[in-house]
Order: sequence, then C-alpha cells, then structure tokens
Amino acid sequence: MRALVINSWLKAPSDLKVEDIPVPTAKDSELLVRVDSAGVNFFDILMITGKYQLKPPFPFTPGAEFSGTVVKASSDKRFKVGDRVFGSNVTGAYAEYIAVPSIYCFPIPRNLSFEQAAGIFITYPTSYAGLVLRAKVQRGDWVLVHAAAGGVGIAAVQIAKALGARVIAATGSKDKFDVCRQQGADHCVSYNDSDWTGQVLKLTGGKGADVVYDPVGKVNESLKCVAWNGRIVVVGFAAGTIEKVATNRILLKNVAVTGINWNGYVHNEPEKILEAWNALFKLVEDGLLRPVVFQPIFHGLDQVKDALKAVARRETYGKAVVKVSESPTSKL
Ligand SMILES: NC(=O)c1ccc[n+]([C@@H]2O[C@H](COP(=O)([O-])OP(=O)(O)OC[C@H]3O[C@@H](n4cnc5c(N)ncnc54)[C@H](OP(=O)(O)O)[C@@H]3O)[C@@H](O)[C@H]2O)c1
Repeated sequence: MRALVINSWLKAPSDLKVEDIPVPTAKDSELLVRVDSAGVNFFDILMITGKYQLKPPFPFTPGAEFSGTVVKASSDKRFKVGDRVFGSNVTGAYAEYIAVPSIYCFPIPRNLSFEQAAGIFITYPTSYAGLVLRAKVQRGDWVLVHAAAGGVGIAAVQIAKALGARVIAATGSKDKFDVCRQQGADHCVSYNDSDWTGQVLKLTGGKGADVVYDPVGKVNESLKCVAWNGRIVVVGFAAGTIEKVATNRILLKNVAVTGINWNGYVHNEPEKILEAWNALFKLVEDGLLRPVVFQPIFHGLDQVKDALKAVARRETYGKAVVKVSESPTSKL
C-alpha cells in the first residue's frame, strides 16, 4: 500500500515522502480500515520533526485521525466488514490502510460524509467537554470562543449555539468572520484589534463573557472582558506561549479558570467519553452540528505536506482533510 513513512526526523513537511509498504496486520482487537480521508493536525508537524512529546520508533506512518471502511473485522462485534467508521490512533492515518484498536473507532453518523467524519475525533469531544463538563454553559450565556474558525474553535461555536448560548467568535484575521457567522456566531471580533476586549464588553452590554473558550493563550486579555462569575476554559496554546496569570485578577470577578485535557479522560474518567460522544451524536442526528471541512480538500497522500503547510500558516478553517482513497489503491 502507499503510505507516508518516517525513517528519521524530518526538517519540515516538505520532506515527507510516500512509499510502498505492506498493508498492516490487524490484531484480534483491531479493525483493518481502508482509509478514505485523514484529518490534519498541527501536532503532525511536531510528530514528524521529532518535537512532539510522543516519539514513535522508526519507521512509522504519521497521521492521527481518519475515516474509512472496515475491510477486516475484529473480536469486537460492534463492527463488521463494510461499516463506515471514523477514529484515531497515535500514528498510521496517512496511509491507504490502518490497523486500529476497535475501541478507538465509532460508526460514522449517517448524515456525515467520510470527509466530515475524518476530523471530528479530537475537536468535537474536546469542545463539548470544555463547554459542558468544565464551563457548564447555560442557555443564554455569552460564550467567547478564541480561534473560532479553527478546529476546536468552530466545534465550540456550533456546540455553544446548540446549547442556546450567545456566541462571540474571536479570530486573528477578519477574513475568518464569514465562516464563523455561517456556523452560528452572533458576533465576531479580531484579537488583533487593540480594543477587542472593549468590543466584547460593548457587545455584552458591559457585562462581559460568561464563558471564554481559549485554545490560543488569551487568558490575561480575556480577564478584562469576562463577566462576574465567569468561567475561562484553557484549551491550548496555539500562540506558542504558556501564560502566567496574576491570581488577584481571577479573584476580583469571582472567575473560575479551568482546564480541559480531553485525552486525560481515557485514564481518569473513561465513562465521560461515551457520555460526551452520545450527546454529540444526538446533536449531529438533530442537524445541530455540521463538521466544517476546509475547501479545497487536499487530494492524495502526496498533498499531506501541502495540508500541513496550510495549517501551519493559519490559512485553514474548520478541519483540513486529505482525501486518501484517491491515491492508487493496493489490493489486499
Ligand atoms: N486540551 C485539549 O484536550 C485539546 C484538544 C485539541 C486541541 N487542543 C489545542 O487547541 C489548540 C487549537 O487546536 P486546533 O485543532 O483548533 O488547531 P487549528 O485548527 O490549527 O487552529 C488553531 C488556530 O489558532 C489561532 N492562532 C492564534 N495565534 C496563533 C499563532 N501564533 N500560531 C498559530 N495559530 C494561532 C489561528 O487562528 P487565527 O488565525 O484566527 O488566529 C489558528 O487557525 C492547539 O493548541 C491544540 O493543541 C487541545
């Protein structure tokens, strides 16, 4: 089969190469899935350049999110050959086939395409857990979402709207306002404007945001426009800096600053994982969540490098997806 293969740490995505390697052998507990589409993540770049906390032994195939069709079932009777599934593994998605533990797979909801399903495994439950389990968003709350056009951001906009919140989308570039509005944002601000916190205060009638969802590293600035009893959810550090926060400013407005580590639920509260997914599947079924795929879709494994570069340059919105199945297919 064709797959990206990492034999030594790369300098940059442009060094990625497609090779012919054997189709992986699935263990009893694993599904063998013919990959249709792969979701693209910034951390793939860290992984291929040896800068990620996890360093798989060489050779390995990068890629953490996929959708596709089961071609060999496992001991897990929930799945049979021909089922459409999506899932995630630490590595292996940038390939024509992936062998993956069935516990890391879900059936694709019938109203989602392969392309949409390829990029939801990480973003949607992260944003659901951040907004519902951590910030306890209530109907009518003002929710300020940073990097609102990004992967977790756009999911947060949709989920907050589905929960009945009023959403302010914050992005770096005003070019991303349209996509945020299309996904339900009531208002948009750019955190590159020097007075953006003043704009949030004005939009909320002086009250401030009840909930701030922050994948960027905007806690200090957001404290200027958070409401009394506000909740700030620390999701990530896309801007590259881990902030230090003066705790007196948390005290002054009765603010709760909380973290979300979705992956941490696997070992700490595994029961919450299904709870989150069941709630998400219901929202998808009801048509309230529509995963956004960046256009144009990237075609073929040779374009993974272009997809990664676009993500690194902040040019994408929603999820960048690579349609893998259009590469010439190997026979099993
Ligand atoms: N805690 C968890 O469990 C969890 C789970 C998933 C992801 N995350 C984290 O959440 C963050 C966002 O993930 P994502 O999948 O949404 O990524 P993404 O789709 O690549 O979006 C990231 C966005 O961050 C914004 N950004 C602001 N400053 C930036 C900078 N200096 N460099 C690059 N981007 C910058 C950009 O939007 P603008 O151009 O609009 O500024 C960019 O599009 C990442 O840090 C990721 O590690 C955390």
